[in-house]
Amino acid sequence: MSKKILVLPGDGIGPEIVAEAIKVLDCLRHDHGLDVEVERGLIGGAAYDQTGKPLPDETLALAKAADSVLLGAVGGPAYDGLDRPLRPERGLLAIRSELELFGNLRPAILYPQLAAASALKPEVVSGLDIMIVRELTGGIYFGEPRGIRTLENGEREGYNTLVYRESEIERIGRLAFEIAARRNGRLCSVDKANVLEVTELWREVMNGLAPEYPAVDLSHMYVDNAAMQLVRAPKQFDVMVTTNMFGDILSDCASMLTGSIGMLPSASLDARSKGMYEPIHGSAPNIAGKGVANPLATILSVAMMLRYSLDQPDLARRVEDAVGTVLDQGLRTPDIHTPETRRVTTVEMGDAVLAALRD
Ligand code: IPM
Ligand code: MG
Repeated sequence: MSKKILVLPGDGIGPEIVAEAIKVLDCLRHDHGLDVEVERGLIGGAAYDQTGKPLPDETLALAKAADSVLLGAVGGPAYDGLDRPLRPERGLLAIRSELELFGNLRPAILYPQLAAASALKPEVVSGLDIMIVRELTGGIYFGEPRGIRTLENGEREGYNTLVYRESEIERIGRLAFEIAARRNGRLCSVDKANVLEVTELWREVMNGLAPEYPAVDLSHMYVDNAAMQLVRAPKQFDVMVTTNMFGDILSDCASMLTGSIGMLPSASLDARSKGMYEPIHGSAPNIAGKGVANPLATILSVAMMLRYSLDQPDLARRVEDAVGTVLDQGLRTPDIHTPETRRVTTVEMGDAVLAALRD
């Protein structure tokens, strides 16, 4: 039976990069026997413009019925003035939460061809292969109460709540231990247990799981030190597991080690490996519509979808190899362009990946 993929292009550069990823999916359908149906839906500002909501009920229903979701990006300056519940980002958070996509996998892999594009020296990053496992449906992003209130003296006060239940920590912990067991067996749990009780509990729960995974070597690191170590000596890490907000920040940081945030895909999984796949970069409104956005993070997100939700590891590898081929050919969108390489547009990059897939 064919699997259903819901595509949500979203805002900013979302539609441009998703168009290239759809070309890849179409090619896999026609040339490599991938049995999928692709539907489209609205999310973010694009959804607000047409329906008045950043996550219309229809999109949520389609997403629930789909086997996996491919998302571009959401957000843009045009929506900054909206009431918070109507903002594009709330649509993204709502779909993550409604689909219970608690496990966010953000691999930071340096393609050797991009060593010169990294902000760090080649010897610090060459061979880099880190998996950041970010908790995605809890923590301060969702904790209640939240808001901005006016105090008796008339001053305003903003507040959010950082809260994690043991069960939430345990399920993300188990996912991270399992991933670490399949990789190099090193798991670093990142917290701020010296200050925040929530993450004191986080550390306790992680330690409690460790005896069940004897093949995994668990360590702990405070988030400030982890940020420093990521830049100082990133190759010390294999798998990192952390809270929603720390994972948001550390994954952007890790992306720069790989040359560009335009290269990093992600998978957000529920307990049954249904997933939503998206590049970790945002909607980049400053470059939207100019044909300069890097589609590779979205194309690599398709590879993750093939691997984690569609059970097609061989096709996943094919897509990743095709990306390697275009990099070998010296093709670069502006974000990864260096003087000795050839600058290409979003569409040219997508076409080159297709040509490599067909070879
Ligand atoms: C990400 C993004 C989102 C997040 C925003 C757009 C809500 O930064 O996926 O990392 O903070 O999770
Ligand atoms: Mg982010």
